Amino acid sequence: MLNEEIRFSKALKSIARDQELKSYLQHSKELYPIFMKGAKRFVAGETREEGMDRVISLSNEGYEVSLEYLGENTSTEEECILANNEFLKLIKDLGAVELRATVSFDLSHIGMMISDELALNHLKELAKEAQQHGIQLMISMEESQKTERILSIYKKASTEYPNVGITLQVHLKRSDRDLEDLLKYPGRIRLVKGAYQEPKDLYIPRSSELDKRYIEFVTKCVHQQHPLSVATHDETIVMKLKENGLLDRPTVEVEMLDGVRPDLKAFLKDSHIQTKVYVTYGSEWYLYLVHRIAEHPANIYPFISDIIEWKHGDGSPALT
Ligand code: FDA
Repeated sequence: MLNEEIRFSKALKSIARDQELKSYLQHSKELYPIFMKGAKRFVAGETREEGMDRVISLSNEGYEVSLEYLGENTSTEEECILANNEFLKLIKDLGAVELRATVSFDLSHIGMMISDELALNHLKELAKEAQQHGIQLMISMEESQKTERILSIYKKASTEYPNVGITLQVHLKRSDRDLEDLLKYPGRIRLVKGAYQEPKDLYIPRSSELDKRYIEFVTKCVHQQHPLSVATHDETIVMKLKENGLLDRPTVEVEMLDGVRPDLKAFLKDSHIQTKVYVTYGSEWYLYLVHRIAEHPANIYPFISDIIEWKHGDGSPALT
């Protein structure tokens, strides 16, 4: 990235966790629909039905799919229960159409802001329901202040529910120790570089050092035949792993976000590599959207174009 892009990216990441801004945008009658138009590139829609339509269509194209009902940092117990109920309905809907999808979520969406106990209880409830439908769950990883608690909740559920997996951020310095530990549990490990802005001493920024570490982590999981999700859009990394025969294994899938690098996904699928697309829905897309633009600043162009074209029609003179 250019210096100005790095600055832009850091500035965006610093507001990604701003709850006040998120709430303002979400409740603004004027701004919400405008930003929603821009978010649609990455988010299937606001409703479960829209999320389901998108995963069914991708599945028909031959992709594996995962689905997240967006949200995080839910601050009341009542809202945590509502979010958990939405995930239960989602699991049942996927079961009804026999779609063996992965359901992904933040633990802070379903209870962790209230207590670890509430998050664990909800996690187990979801895992039990998912098990009955052959559905996998995947816990997302949030900012580093929460890492220890998220890992601890995961481990408590993992032995009883091997259908629960965990995301690990390769950019955190602690993650090499965490990986050793997580390999002792049965759940799938999803390796991501890491999306959150972290304190300098805790993480390795985007660099060749980080890319090398990513490949090392993948190699370790593959050699231990541990269920693995290679969750990156980094073409250089993916092609290197492919050339080294690390992707062509029954335990390994490549997972990418919907709306990002569709060409690379299609290429991998056509090369008979298990390729999964991560779909999201819901109205709490603020953090997700900010991260997508921050990690690839050029995404700001289609974001603005989508909004303007919606407001004024393609090429409309109303703008001049
Ligand atoms: P990197 O950021 O180095 O980008 C490599 C190249 O990929 C870029 O040069 C660009 O070409 C392309 N690219 C990357 N992002 C793009 C975008 N948004 N639009 C267009 N092109 C893009 N993070 C986290 O902290 N916790 C989590 O739980 C998850 N969960 C998760 C699930 C899945 C399935 C994926 C794919 C990613 C996540 N992430 C995540 C996000 C992850 O940490 C990381 O921020 C993004 O994947 C971007 O990093 P890359 O590995 O793609 O590489």
